[in-house]
Amino acid sequence: MARSCFCSAFILAALLPILAIVAGNLAVEAREARSTLQRRNGDRSGASADAPARLQFKGRRPGEFKILQVADMHYADGRSTGCLDVFPNQTASCSDLNTTAFIHRVIRDEHPDLVVFTGDNIYGFDATDAAKSLDMAFGPAVTLKLPWAAVLGNHDQESTLSREGVMRHIVGMPYTLSRLNPDNTDIDGFGNYNLEVFGAEGSSLANKSVLNLYFLDSGDYSTVPSIPGYGWIKASQQLWFKQTSSRLQKEYMSKPNGQKEAAPGLAYFHIPLPEYSSFDPSNFTGVKRDPISSASINSGFFTTMVDARDVKAVFTGHDHLNDFCGNLTAIHLCYAGGFGYHAYGLAGWSRRARVVSAYLEKNTANGEWGGVRSIKTWKRLDDQYLSTIDSQVLWSKGTNGRRRRSRH
Ligand SMILES: *[C@@H]1O[C@H](CO)[C@@H](O)[C@H](O)[C@H]1NC(C)=O
Ligand SMILES: *[C@@H]1O[C@H](CO)[C@@H](O)[C@H](O)[C@H]1NC(C)=O
Ligand SMILES: *[C@@H]1O[C@H](CO)[C@@H](O)[C@H](O)[C@H]1NC(C)=O
Ligand SMILES: *[C@@H]1O[C@H](CO)[C@@H](O)[C@H](O)[C@H]1NC(C)=O
Ligand SMILES: *[C@@H]1O[C@H](CO)[C@@H](O)[C@H](O)[C@H]1NC(C)=O
Repeated sequence: MARSCFCSAFILAALLPILAIVAGNLAVEAREARSTLQRRNGDRSGASADAPARLQFKGRRPGEFKILQVADMHYADGRSTGCLDVFPNQTASCSDLNTTAFIHRVIRDEHPDLVVFTGDNIYGFDATDAAKSLDMAFGPAVTLKLPWAAVLGNHDQESTLSREGVMRHIVGMPYTLSRLNPDNTDIDGFGNYNLEVFGAEGSSLANKSVLNLYFLDSGDYSTVPSIPGYGWIKASQQLWFKQTSSRLQKEYMSKPNGQKEAAPGLAYFHIPLPEYSSFDPSNFTGVKRDPISSASINSGFFTTMVDARDVKAVFTGHDHLNDFCGNLTAIHLCYAGGFGYHAYGLAGWSRRARVVSAYLEKNTANGEWGGVRSIKTWKRLDDQYLSTIDSQVLWSKGTNGRRRRSRH
């Protein structure tokens, strides 16, 4: 969301001398990330060479797949970029490096299998060099060799790279599973792609996607003069989503090991859908301290997802002071809450991240892992305790919210 920060230049001028002496090994990380990138220069068409070939339920928690969502980092120049909306007694010691430190902190505690960055990754107006800011912003995932995926917000293109340029840079970074767009498809935006998460290693679903992740570019601003405000998910993107969802469902339900029901899906993008306005505190978990800043028209993506039937939850950012999840006709609409310290926020209201975990069912007869049984979410706060709040179930198998066909 575009809350202005006229104050940032002043903060910067006042803090430069202090911040300059706050040495950071984080800057070293960003340099390492850049040099890896340079080595890989020229290999930007396909998947990142360092990224895993595929996502799968495996490792230390074979029955669980955990996704960390980082929304609205608003990264700029690193240690010389001050923080917004912290207490006066915190400004001197606060910079973009606090955003970096928070990512490290939450990853160290949660050990996610995938990190998803949902846009406004950089705050373009204050970023001197977009490529450097992107390298610094995603640096922790690269340093920790964690698979990661990103989509664009409405601020990512405001520096030295266009939206296409930003997405191309992201796709070329180490350990990312991000893609520019589907091959051979005319589609609006940059960064529309899907990721499949395969069943447990060694199980009969090891070669089937048991959890489907959809990433979309929700645009920046309307280009239609008569329609003011933010961008929206276009018909071309919805067509791609429908085709992809239907192909994945067909694959999951066909032989070998054909399943009875579609695998659950999760969708990630930046700008909330108009349907995020359907709730009040009586029927959401979390808080709403910002207006819902969706596009001023409804392009129908919610309905498209209802029709497709596999998506169980949607995760956006954009409105930093909203962090709620509400259930609308069996699709949960969730915010992550603002993560970055150079993003607007509220002093005394901790920056935060959303975690989502999917759990597999286990066949009681043979002990083998099956498809996804349930999906849960919670948030982690960047406070003294890295507090966990607002745990809730988003979906469990057998509760698809399907309505009976009307007989009239
Ligand atoms: C900083 O300021 C806030 C708000 O005035 C206050 O609650 C907090 O105790 C202060 N922290 C320190 C370390 O002085
Ligand atoms: C930012 O990081 C510095 C250095 O670790 C720390 O002293 C400071 O408390 C952090 N500020 C906030 C607002 O978390
Ligand atoms: C999955 O594919 C691999 C490689 O093609 C094969 O070795 C394995 O048997 C397959 N597993 C199942 C359960 O289909
Ligand atoms: C939430 O509750 C309000 C009334 O308190 C109601 O108007 C609204 O339709 C409810 N939303 C959902 C999605 O149930
Ligand atoms: C979400 O709402 C649908 C009905 O609209 C209901 O069937 C489903 O159980 C709800 N899901 C959760 C997790 O509460």
